[in-house]
Amino acid sequence: MPAISFQSVSKTYPAARQTRQQTRSELRAVDNVTFQIEEGEFFGLLGPNGAGKTTLISMLAGLSRPTSGLVSVRGFDVQRDFAQARRQLGVVPQELVFDPFFNVREALRIQSGYFGIRNNDDWIDELLHSLGLGDKSNANMRQLSGGMKRRVLVAQALVHKPPVIVLDEPTAGVDVELRQTLWQFIAKLNKQGSTVLLTTHYLEEAEALCNRIAMLKQGRVIALDRTSELLRAAASNVLRFKTDGMLPWSIAQHARVTGRIVQLPAQNAHEVEQLLAALREAGLAVEDVEMRKADLEDVFIDLMAGEQTPLEVAR
Ligand SMILES: Nc1ncnc2c1ncn2[C@@H]1O[C@H](COP(=O)(O)OP(=O)(O)O)[C@@H](O)[C@H]1O
Ligand SMILES: [Mg+2]
Repeated sequence: MPAISFQSVSKTYPAARQTRQQTRSELRAVDNVTFQIEEGEFFGLLGPNGAGKTTLISMLAGLSRPTSGLVSVRGFDVQRDFAQARRQLGVVPQELVFDPFFNVREALRIQSGYFGIRNNDDWIDELLHSLGLGDKSNANMRQLSGGMKRRVLVAQALVHKPPVIVLDEPTAGVDVELRQTLWQFIAKLNKQGSTVLLTTHYLEEAEALCNRIAMLKQGRVIALDRTSELLRAAASNVLRFKTDGMLPWSIAQHARVTGRIVQLPAQNAHEVEQLLAALREAGLAVEDVEMRKADLEDVFIDLMAGEQTPLEVAR
């Protein structure tokens, strides 16, 4: 039985919040999504802002209802068996939501109470310690920095030792130290058997942690495969250079640009020559030209630049 299952899941919102690109009368935030996550997987859900990641997670957590389709957690239907499904899940939300009237330990005790767990202090202490919150247990929630609040949210999600852990962009705007602490701890829980579903903007994190990855674009799964396969399927080489000029669109749509640094997929010497010729033609001066191996971000950019039709979904 899969840890998480989405079966033909769609979620539409009324047209009110429609963006300019949307020409349909309603917004399809999630569009006929089907995939399963097996027990023990470390699964990555990637996609640009507005792709539908948080919407999928809120349906998984039972916080919003699918317009159509079925969502289940370890065999429990999220709609029909809400309480059992919810008990299987520890969800770290994207938004920093917290109750300002309690200190850290109180917040964790209250959360334990929601799941009917008494005398949870041994596990709460272990959570506080593992997340670097050992000296903050008596601090009031409103006194904590954003990064510290994020840690408490992680602890809160884990008070009932859920077998399935869901993290919605847990490291967005978070310091490097917390990222390290968090990933060490989550990786340990995963080794001990927990299933992890992670959404993130940091592709190098997904590449390092996730055994499988689904990429979402405009509510649809456009790729789903083992991380290693996604990397292999990508252009295996990347041309990197610096320029001050404006890239022609035909090149820009495939480029990863960071300040003056431009990175472009290029399979072989022939493609490198073509790219350099096109840049010369556009009147661009390039410097510090070099080649490197492709990473997940290159795959991502390549897929996002692609046409609208979903790629073949491998599994
Ligand atoms: N409550 C809502 N009402 C209307 N539209 C929404 C609501 N929540 C999300 N959306 C829209 O649904 C789309 C997907 O959003 P979201 O799931 O938050 O994406 P992501 O988490 O991948 O950034 C976006 O276009 C967003 O504006
Ligand atoms: Mg989101």
